[in-house]
Amino acid sequence: MHHIMYMSTALVLVQEEELTAMLTQYRRNNLRDNITGMLLYSGEHYVQLIEGAEEALRKLFAKICQDYHHTNLIKLADGSISQRVFENWSMGFRSVDEAALTGLKGYVNPESVALPHPEEESPVQVLQQFIQHNMTDGRK
Ligand SMILES: Cc1cc2nc3c(=O)[nH]c(=O)nc-3n(C[C@H](O)[C@H](O)[C@H](O)COP(=O)(O)O)c2cc1C
Repeated sequence: MHHIMYMSTALVLVQEEELTAMLTQYRRNNLRDNITGMLLYSGEHYVQLIEGAEEALRKLFAKICQDYHHTNLIKLADGSISQRVFENWSMGFRSVDEAALTGLKGYVNPESVALPHPEEESPVQVLQQFIQHNMTDGRK
């Protein structure tokens, strides 16, 4: 089992209706490929965690990297895991304020001074805690 997490900069502002259609397609693909995860979107940035078999993730990540909706992908995690964090989500989704991403942006921006998380907390843990405190959709 493997996971990849990244943050990226949005290039096009996606409206609610288009977003719903995109998510439906992502979830269909992910169910087929046994991929789970979580996607946050602030209008400015995306943060996504994908979990599954390494080969399937590499294929998906290559596609995601090419996607015109965003650019400047910065990997926050890429490694093997013993279990999924979002096993019940084919792709959980949450629209967030840009401010809600502060904790995760600390991993991306070395100049971000006041990191709200202790050094030993991983980006995936920060994401997990964020989601635990916020409702989300996309449960299988
Ligand atoms: C921020 C972001 C997250 C995405 N996440 C997924 C995903 O979880 N699963 C997926 O199949 N496609 C995802 N995509 C879309 C892929 O880039 C690609 O368009 C899609 O996988 C192609 O699907 P198709 O092979 O059915 O045409 C994402 C795109 C963006 C911009």
